Amino acid sequence: MNDLLPAQAARYRSLVSCVAGLLARYGYSELRTPVLERTELFVRTIGEVTDIVEKEMYTFRDELNGESLTLRPEGTAACVRAAIEHNMLYGTPQRLWYEGPMFRHERPQKGRYRQFHQVGCEAIGFAGPDVDAEQIILCARLWRQLGLRDVSLELNSLGDAATRAAHRERLVAYLEQHREQLDDDALRRLHSNPLRILDTKNPAMQSLVAGAPKLLDMLDAESAAHFDGLRARLDDAGIAFTVNPRLVRGLDYYNRTVFEWVTTRLGAQGTICAGGRYDGLVEQLGGRAAPACGFAMGLERILSLVEEGGVLDAAPVPAAYVVHQGEAAARFAVEVAEALRDLGHAVVVHGGGGKFAAQMKRADASGAQYALIVGEAELAARKVGLKPLRTGGEQQMLGTDAVAALLGATTAT
Ligand code: HAM
Repeated sequence: MNDLLPAQAARYRSLVSCVAGLLARYGYSELRTPVLERTELFVRTIGEVTDIVEKEMYTFRDELNGESLTLRPEGTAACVRAAIEHNMLYGTPQRLWYEGPMFRHERPQKGRYRQFHQVGCEAIGFAGPDVDAEQIILCARLWRQLGLRDVSLELNSLGDAATRAAHRERLVAYLEQHREQLDDDALRRLHSNPLRILDTKNPAMQSLVAGAPKLLDMLDAESAAHFDGLRARLDDAGIAFTVNPRLVRGLDYYNRTVFEWVTTRLGAQGTICAGGRYDGLVEQLGGRAAPACGFAMGLERILSLVEEGGVLDAAPVPAAYVVHQGEAAARFAVEVAEALRDLGHAVVVHGGGGKFAAQMKRADASGAQYALIVGEAELAARKVGLKPLRTGGEQQMLGTDAVAALLGATTAT
């Protein structure tokens, strides 16, 4: 679990505001849910036999009332819970997004943390495939906006429940036939969650899973049409993708569309964004049946990719840093700074006194474009000395309005 120091926090905030702006342009509204939920919510939705529920959740008993609570490992379950609880789904489909920390007790490494951050979005009450395509198009726009390179899209369809049951039977029979090639993990999952065996990273099992019966070959007619519709829309939008029949996802609520945006630039943790359709989840949690589709992106991973050559606004720096000497000047400095802030400028007033030279060093370190100096002469004239810190140039004595006009010009560039 990491501290975000000011420079990192600024980049984080800048990324979130970039994504938030984009989501607003697609009609998504923000939903904020608590970081804690009843444990049962995650067990029921993510699935009992998944890595997350089996070994990654921060679960504890609330000693005050004996409830079992869990720090959220993902956002979909809580989003659906909240939408049902607040009757948001009656007759109106919802496009919702959320942002914040998620918690999974995984083995930490680059790109994998125990507290990490997601932006997720969920379109609830849409049967698709138009909304599936819209979400993927939205992601592609974001990658373009951030200047990310080498990001590719993998796509699969998990079909409907009956198809998955039939496929599961054939898959288990196939894996039983090759039992001697299964590792411990696969043996354990053989009957509880065989689909996840297809996701194995074990090199010794790759040829075995490559030859396994594919869900994609057995799709029911409606799911096949849905998948065709999605692919056609992605083609329309000029979005390249690879169909990966082994893409199964690590959470149980999915059906039909599943997708992952992956990059080769981040080593083993190359999935920057992932999601899919979960048409049964709303009803499963007690709401009136509503088809839905969503995804979540890992902000740490995206920030790492941006570092590799993307674009994100730099940390904001103040427009001006005000230095001053003496009690009366200090009070006038505050007056000037407040007037400039009224006009929307970021202004830092030196705190703590000290010699002018030392204060000017602080002004320089702050990154500000200008130092505003309040000495005796300035105070007497009710003006400030304005000194450019980045471009050289003479100090000039100006009134607040003239300073504001100059700061306005620098803010605009
Ligand atoms: P997920 O695949 O578990 O899906 O997580 C989504 C993304 O969160 C991953 O692709 C990755 O970028 C990031 N992520 C996951 N675990 C970690 C970690 N330990 N450290 C850093 N980043 C991580 C979900 O969470 C689903 N709720 C997505 C969804 C929304 N499906 C439908 N709607």
